[in-house]
Amino acid sequence: MTAGMSDRVQRSFSRSFDTYASHANQQAWVAERLSMALRECGAPHRFASTFEIGCGTGLLTQQLYNHFRHGELKINDLAPEAQQIADAYGATFLQGDATQIRWPDMPELIASASMIQWLANPATMLRRAADALVPGGWLAVSGFGPRQYEELVQIGTSGRAPGLRTAEDMAAVLRGDLEIMTAGQCLRPMQFSSARDVLVHLRKTGVNGRAGKAWTRSQLENFLDDYTRQFANDAGVTLTYHPVWIIARKPDCKQPMSAGPGGAS
Ligand SMILES: C[S@@+](CC[C@H](N)C(=O)[O-])C[C@H]1O[C@@H](n2cnc3c(N)ncnc32)[C@H](O)[C@@H]1O
Repeated sequence: MTAGMSDRVQRSFSRSFDTYASHANQQAWVAERLSMALRECGAPHRFASTFEIGCGTGLLTQQLYNHFRHGELKINDLAPEAQQIADAYGATFLQGDATQIRWPDMPELIASASMIQWLANPATMLRRAADALVPGGWLAVSGFGPRQYEELVQIGTSGRAPGLRTAEDMAAVLRGDLEIMTAGQCLRPMQFSSARDVLVHLRKTGVNGRAGKAWTRSQLENFLDDYTRQFANDAGVTLTYHPVWIIARKPDCKQPMSAGPGGAS
C-alpha cells in the first residue's frame, strides 16, 4: 500500500470508528462465518500465539476471543483507535500498515476479516502469512469478491477497494504452501430505503476511504438519480456484498500435505 493511500484508508476508518460496529452488519456476519469455519475445519480450541491483521473495532477479535483461547494475542490495525480493542481483550496492539510492520514470530493462528480487500496486492499478504505461520499453524482470512458493491461500479463511482478477489483466487495463491481446508463465498444483497441511505451506510462503515474529492451538489444529485433509476425495487434500493473466506493450514513438518477440498463454494 502506498503511504498516501494507507493514510486515506486510515483516516476514513478512524472517522467511522464509533459508528462502524452498529452499521457493519455484513462484516459482523462474515467475522462470525470465518470463526465458525475455523471451528468446523477442526482447528484446536487453544492457540499459543494468535496474530490478527486489521482488527478495526474488533468484530473478529470478539469471535476469536469467545470461541478460542489464546496464549498470546497480538492485533494490528492502521487506525490508532484500535488500541482500545486491544485493551478490552487483553491483547498487544501493533499499530500500522500490516504490509510494513514487523509481524510476530511464527504465530499458530493468523486471522483477518474484511481487511485484505484494501491491499493492492492481497496475494503478497497471503504468501507472507503462509510463510510466517508455525508448521501446523492455521490461517483464517475473509475479504470481499469482485461483485462487491457492483451497483457502485455500474454507476461508475471511484473508490472501489483494490484487492477484491474470489475465494478460488485466494486458494490458488496458497495451494502448494498450505492445505486448503475450506474456501467459500456468497452474495448478500442489502436493502436500503433510498440511495442516500446507501451513502450514509458507506460513510458510517468507513469503506469510502479510496473515494477522491468531495462531490459537488450536482454530482451528488446525479448519483442519487442514477442509483435510484437503476437499482430501485418495491422496498427501496439494493447494495450487493460479496463476502469470501478461506481457512488453510500449514503442514506439520512430519505430515505430508493432503489434497484437501481446494475449491470455493
Ligand atoms: C472493514 S474494517 C474490518 C475490521 C474488522 N476486522 C472487522 O471484521 O470488522 C477494515 C480494517 O482494516 C484496517 N486496514 C486497512 N488497511 C490496512 C493495512 N494496510 N494495515 C492494517 N490495517 C488495515 C482498517 O483500518 C479497518 O479498521
